[in-house]
Amino acid sequence: MLKACRADEVEIDDTYQAVFDDRPPIAIYNVGGTFYATDDTCTHGDASLADGLLEGCAIECPFHAGTFDVRTGKALTRPCVEPVRAYPVKVEDGVIYVLVDESLPVE
Ligand code: FES
Repeated sequence: MLKACRADEVEIDDTYQAVFDDRPPIAIYNVGGTFYATDDTCTHGDASLADGLLEGCAIECPFHAGTFDVRTGKALTRPCVEPVRAYPVKVEDGVIYVLVDESLPVE
C-alpha cells in the first residue's frame, strides 16, 4: 500500500499527482468526496492525467482530450483506447493510501 497524500490536498472535483521515488506517478481524483486512483500517465501519450479536466467520473487528458473513467481506468473516448490501471483507495486518518498490486489485470 502506498501513501499518496493527505485527503485535504485533493479538492472536491479536482485531481492530484502523487509522485514516488520508485514507481511512476499516480493520479488521485476526488469525485464529490469519493477518492479514486489511476496511473497518472495517459496510455495515448506522455501526458499527466492529473493535469486534465475532471468531469464527474471522467478525466479528460490535457494533450488530445481523450477520456478515461477514473473508477475503472476504462478508456471512454478516442484517441484513448487502452485503459489506464486503476487502484483501490483507502482513506485513514485523513491520509489517502493506494493499494498497488501490479499483478491484477488492467480493466
Ligand atoms: Fe492523452 Fe493523447 S496523450 S489523449
